[in-house]
Amino acid sequence: MFKKDFPYFNNSKTVYLDNAATTQKPQCVIDSQIEYYEKYCSNTHRSNFGHANKATINFEKTRTLLKEFINASKNEEIIFTKGVTESINFIANSYAKNFKTVIISSLEHHSNIVPWHMQKRTLGNGLEVVRCNNNLDFDFEHFEQILKNNPKSFVSVTHISNAFGKIYDIKKITELAHKYDAVVMVDGAQSLAHLKVDMQDLDVDFFAISAHKTFGPTGVGAIYVKEKYLKEIEPYQTGGATIDEVTFNTSTLLDSPYKFEAGTQNIAGIIGFGKALEYLNIIGYENIQIVENDVYRYLDEELRKIPKIIFYNDINDSIGSRSFNFEGLVHDDIGILLDKMNIALRVGHHCAQPIMKQLNVKGTIRVSIAFYNDYNDVSELITALRKALQMLDA
Ligand SMILES: Cc1ncc(COP(=O)(O)O)c(C=O)c1O
Repeated sequence: MFKKDFPYFNNSKTVYLDNAATTQKPQCVIDSQIEYYEKYCSNTHRSNFGHANKATINFEKTRTLLKEFINASKNEEIIFTKGVTESINFIANSYAKNFKTVIISSLEHHSNIVPWHMQKRTLGNGLEVVRCNNNLDFDFEHFEQILKNNPKSFVSVTHISNAFGKIYDIKKITELAHKYDAVVMVDGAQSLAHLKVDMQDLDVDFFAISAHKTFGPTGVGAIYVKEKYLKEIEPYQTGGATIDEVTFNTSTLLDSPYKFEAGTQNIAGIIGFGKALEYLNIIGYENIQIVENDVYRYLDEELRKIPKIIFYNDINDSIGSRSFNFEGLVHDDIGILLDKMNIALRVGHHCAQPIMKQLNVKGTIRVSIAFYNDYNDVSELITALRKALQMLDA
């Protein structure tokens, strides 16, 4: 129903089921970037001629759209970055480095693990990992124990696992963390494509966003920073566009968000991200969820009919991604055969090696859907999977 808005599907016969890696882009997102380059390409927040002003207005429009989209309270709380990886690294290296202990969950993407390892190595900060059970549920008792032993720590957890689609209850995590004076950052890379998020309701302190996983361009993202932290956080990069005044001896910085956005930004990308948000506003999350849940359940039902399939979580509290293996088979072999049958999905560790180790697997086969996927995509996948299994004599 929605595929007509995405030129990729007119140009390709590929069954695209790798949306957790990146989503396709609607025509309006592509057009807005071409329009910027063809008709008013200029830098933002610097020059004062017509096209430069238009670029600045459209760039800042995305900030306003995003602020409203996630119900932040002020535009200043929205800081553009290259994506979730840069958002996490920014907060890790500017604010969180002052905390003695960082708490993460077992389901984190490497982007929310490796920056903390670097800090552990260079600053000696502690790192604690909240356990999950064998349905990948977040262990709140263990979390509380860690918080009790390490009050005033920095909690950094994923909202939706990219590897398994598991949703964590961020509101509950934040409430508990705040009880022990901890600060909470959420890796929201997988959130906006599937769920409405509301900064007031979740009450998180930081929320990392990725445009390319939200039908927007690659190389763009943002971090929501609750207003009360904006003054105390130092930028981790500085340079042009961040300053008020510079002499040979010293410099004074602008206020947020500009003090954090050093150098020329991905202007076309940020304008394109705004278009993606406008597009999502038109479709509406109610519609997205109806269509997507239906296909997600159908996918699960059809997969369950295949013998020797192994899942790692049930589909309650899960969204978007479904990860599995087949007894006695190597996930890579399936991936190679599916690629030959024009099915695009990801096999491997999905940048989440620690949880794969915990589950005693090298990786999984991951099908990740978006609202434009339909029953037909699932049927083609299942036919191809059965063929691949036959070829492998399984
Ligand atoms: C859960 C999660 N966190 C972080 C990232 C990194 O996001 P980005 O590509 O925006 O840097 C990803 C991307 O795969 C992800 O799925």
